[in-house]
Amino acid sequence: MRVLFVASECAPFAKAGGLGDVVGALPKALARLGHDVRVLLPRYDTVRLEHAFRHDQGLAVPLGGGETWCAILEARLPQSDVPVYLLEHDALYGRGYLYDPPAGLCGDNLARFGLLCRGALSLCRHLHWEPDVFHVHDWPTALVPVLTNHLPPGDPLARAASVLTIHNLAHQPRFAASGLGLLGLPASVFRADGLEDHGHLSPFKGGLWHATKLTTVSPRYADEIRRPEHGCGLDSILRFRSGDLVGILNGIDDAVWDPATDPLLPARYSAADLGGKQACKRALQRELGLAERQDVPLFGVVSRMGEQKGTDVLCEALDALLTLGQLALLGSGDPQAEAFLSRRSHHGGARFRAVIGYSEPLAHRIEAGCDLFLMPSRFEPCGLNQLYSMRYGSPPIVRATGGLDDTVEQCDPASGAGTGFKLWDLTPRSLYETARWATGVWRDQKEAFGALQQRGMQRDYGWGSRARQYGELYEWAVRARRG
Ligand code: ADP
Ligand code: GLC
Repeated sequence: MRVLFVASECAPFAKAGGLGDVVGALPKALARLGHDVRVLLPRYDTVRLEHAFRHDQGLAVPLGGGETWCAILEARLPQSDVPVYLLEHDALYGRGYLYDPPAGLCGDNLARFGLLCRGALSLCRHLHWEPDVFHVHDWPTALVPVLTNHLPPGDPLARAASVLTIHNLAHQPRFAASGLGLLGLPASVFRADGLEDHGHLSPFKGGLWHATKLTTVSPRYADEIRRPEHGCGLDSILRFRSGDLVGILNGIDDAVWDPATDPLLPARYSAADLGGKQACKRALQRELGLAERQDVPLFGVVSRMGEQKGTDVLCEALDALLTLGQLALLGSGDPQAEAFLSRRSHHGGARFRAVIGYSEPLAHRIEAGCDLFLMPSRFEPCGLNQLYSMRYGSPPIVRATGGLDDTVEQCDPASGAGTGFKLWDLTPRSLYETARWATGVWRDQKEAFGALQQRGMQRDYGWGSRARQYGELYEWAVRARRG
């Protein structure tokens, strides 16, 4: 299969969350299965490029009735031959951010991501390469299926199927209807079973109607978004398209997330020898100014802050959690939560430290150095941090929702099952009670806790089997597209 990933994030070039991790890893796993996979993303000015070459010829992308000239840079995904094309346009992407400026909303995101979607088609023509599948991700690239469905008859790119992966239905910007002209789409596409959403233009909605097949990142979330509670207003479309929607769990990039080889850790360890984990805990406590005590459990959090992640519940439960152990937190997002947590961190003594910001190395050190990892999400399409924490021998405490419910198995010392601890009610009380239970197992049932760590560490979270599922899905999509 020839597959073009069109995405707004791709680690290590550009990442705001798990979408970047997925687009940075899945193409490599598909390439290992023999597929010809390539990636297109914007060349934000935050992208650091060491080995990239600039195509001599620029790319003319039709936009707003004229042509917008872009440059193309070409790099490779690390440890692979997967080409990554970066679409360069200084005025639209050279702004120090991916989606929105730190305070406020970006006014021209339809132009920025419209250019990326139209650019995907122009790139294929420029390369004389016709993909079998356009694999697009979330609202920023959801317009690609709408565009391929409006190509003139006989256009070779119209043969390509499209797969839209829903990473997070909650991010769903809408734009003025006048944006249709910018995209060069006919007025006929502005209808309730198309791009129109309450008089506005919704790229995500358009993609959900137009993509050949839809996927999301866990089976449980695939089920949840068909219901009003998690459907973000699009559940009726997802019920309508049920037969075309599948949930495929995310995997993790073993080359990046493995405690036995992780260069970002002060000491390395594996399921066979956990010795280095204690050293990681000690180093983390020292780094963050927490009391260097092996006999006190250390909770870890690495998270965007906001409603989805249940940061409000975590803040409310903070005092109670600190009676159970120490807490090391890394995150950014909601300004109120940031202010509250940094204030508390300042006065948190040797039990609590919050680092407000984004740091890949510290994220690794927290996953390795903590004893238990907290993820009280209100909803979670898949979640990667709980997978990292299980791989790093730090059993997660999660709310049983979406991919968290699918990937974490409830601890049951009696039957010797489980990889973590789940709560169902998202309240400070239930978070505290679950954390109390977990710290009890950690302290008083050492053997059961060790077995929990072992099961979590030994599970296969790799992309191999997931990539095979995507391969089958692509074949299904191509068959459907070509009749
Ligand atoms: P989401 O994509 O909803 O934020 P995921 O769990 O799927 O949640 O993925 C989050 C990714 O972003 C993980 O790789 C996590 O380590 C990373 N991450 C989140 N916040 C930070 C941060 N403040 N610093 C470093 N990495 C972070
Ligand atoms: C989204 C979701 C997260 C998921 C990630 C990668 O950001 O919030 O749950 O793991 O995408 O698919």
